[in-house]
Amino acid sequence: MTNLDKITVPKIIGKKQKSEKIVCLTAYDWLLARLLDQAGVDVILVGDSAGMVFHGYKTTLPVTLDQMLDHTRAVARGVSRALIVSDMPFLSYQASTEQAIQNAGLFLKEGNAEAVKLEGGEPIAETIHRLVSVGIPVMGHLGLTPQSIQKFGGYRIRGKSSSESEELIKDARILEEAGVFAIVLEKAPADLAKKITESISIPTIGIGAGPHCDGQILVTQDILGMFEDFRPKFVRRYANLAETIRDAVTAFADDVRSNQYPSKDESF
Ligand code: KIV
Repeated sequence: MTNLDKITVPKIIGKKQKSEKIVCLTAYDWLLARLLDQAGVDVILVGDSAGMVFHGYKTTLPVTLDQMLDHTRAVARGVSRALIVSDMPFLSYQASTEQAIQNAGLFLKEGNAEAVKLEGGEPIAETIHRLVSVGIPVMGHLGLTPQSIQKFGGYRIRGKSSSESEELIKDARILEEAGVFAIVLEKAPADLAKKITESISIPTIGIGAGPHCDGQILVTQDILGMFEDFRPKFVRRYANLAETIRDAVTAFADDVRSNQYPSKDESF
């Protein structure tokens, strides 16, 4: 049966034309993806932030293609409405266009993703053009691109100097021409994000890029308050699951240790 409510790439582009904000969040597993989908999120990104949030690496660089494919398959099993976009991990698309097509194809063929996300501007425009021309929808990612963290030397805001801001505006236009259906703008000044949003016909999805973007994305574990070590300025917490989980587990441990679990009713 066709799901008429299903979010597709053209529907995401249409939302900009209708001035409807686009709601995006990350997921790496079936259960959370299912909850996000039930809550009506438009785009679920299987982000390579999985490397840090799920696997505990210090950066996203060690994430492998197999790990991302596995996360994508799990997420896809839980989603019926949202558009599923998968991050292509570091070095799975930069070496050549052929490499990018082969690997991006796997996300659609084997992972059941509906689009892929690539980080970078002009240097990968030709690759993006080829991907789109063979039928693979691409979401771009500009500003702070975490796969270039060693080049940047940290997670600072991008686009504050005039040279960086001109480069970002130029890259956004180049990506639009290359055929991306949306661009994630990460950690960029709000005024610059506004300028970019107004200068292109495809949606911008902000993360730490102010209120003028066509949509917003955050890491789900951040909005749920599961990660407490630090909180970027742009993260708003809607729950404190770290505390809730610790309290629940402590209560279970207390019950087990004091012989209060299981009760007669919980036994056969
Ligand atoms: O990997 C990721 O989760 C991302 C988003 C935060 C934009 O790229």
